[in-house]
Amino acid sequence: MKQKILVTGGLGFIGSHTVVALHESGFEPIIIDNLSNTNIDVIDRLEKLIGYKPQTVIGDVNDLKLLDSLFQKHKPEATIHFAAFKAVGESVEKPLEYYKNNVGGLLSLLEIMKKNNSQNIVFSSSCTVYGEPDEIPVKETTKTKPAESPYGATKQMGEVILKDNQNWLNTQCLRYFNPIGAHHTGIIGELPLGVPNNLIPYLTQAVAGIRGELTVHGSDYDTPDGTCIRDYIHVVDLAEAHVHALKRLLNQQFETNFEVFNVGTGNGSSVLEVIETFEKVNNIKVPHKMGPRRPGDVVKVWAETTKVETILGWRAKKDLNDMLKDAWHWQSLQKANT
Ligand code: WQD
Repeated sequence: MKQKILVTGGLGFIGSHTVVALHESGFEPIIIDNLSNTNIDVIDRLEKLIGYKPQTVIGDVNDLKLLDSLFQKHKPEATIHFAAFKAVGESVEKPLEYYKNNVGGLLSLLEIMKKNNSQNIVFSSSCTVYGEPDEIPVKETTKTKPAESPYGATKQMGEVILKDNQNWLNTQCLRYFNPIGAHHTGIIGELPLGVPNNLIPYLTQAVAGIRGELTVHGSDYDTPDGTCIRDYIHVVDLAEAHVHALKRLLNQQFETNFEVFNVGTGNGSSVLEVIETFEKVNNIKVPHKMGPRRPGDVVKVWAETTKVETILGWRAKKDLNDMLKDAWHWQSLQKANT
């Protein structure tokens, strides 16, 4: 009998890649997703990759009755909680929706987990909890600053809630940096609904002619080329990190009931460096122009990865070239299918 793992937001960008990684590691993923930022056809795409349609419930983590029925039916060994809104810029425009969905959703999940004596959670946190860090690269012990966006604040609150429930809950808290790229087959990837908020899906859609030219949000920052710096990480590497954290939970290898890991590559790349690298590895031009700064943006942040490498035993295997090649391969297939 395979161990069942509940994956909230499992049809999303990171969730779907993690479903594949879970299957490949011998687990049975059970998905709940409200399709707020993905398509139902991801189930068929996953079937192509894992050989069967993963059990999926279309619904919201704030639906307590639905969640309770899922836990009673499947009794998952652990939950990986992805279901949340995740666009920094959008959160500045829609703060209430972000708090209701991200914080409310976590509280609903924990209420039902506690009711069902389910104690293991891998939490999708974010480097945005650091705000504009005083030290770079950021360590897990780097003092978190006031979040620069409601999105970052929802992740800070999520961490506090989990930390304060250590008496019954075991948490692996993964602070993601910037997940990009796609599965090498191009069968799954990043396909946000509507106009993409994030850099890479907008960039690839602009190159594919689906969108107008990419606007670089700000070119007068205190960085070598004036554009913001981020630690981009391949989504497949990120998915693997979740399996490592899950095994740490299930094998009870954790040292405390609330453990935090920076999941990044340790390398920072500016927006212009990403554009140049994309053009080089894909031999195609990115139509772009300079524009005003975006409210909520952090100027520069990238990870110090000693802890995730030495304690979680994980390190990123793919570099920016791989990420941008896979991102374009995915987009090209989308273009062919539209
Ligand atoms: C990256 C850079 C923009 C769009 C993301 C996730 C968040 C968290 C952290 C996981 C910034 C610039 C963007 C565009 C641009 N990850 N940009 N033109 O804001 O760092 O946050 O990573 O939890 O969930 O959203 O990512 O891709 O939006 O921006 O110039 O059209 O690209 O200003 O400097 P961000 P992003």
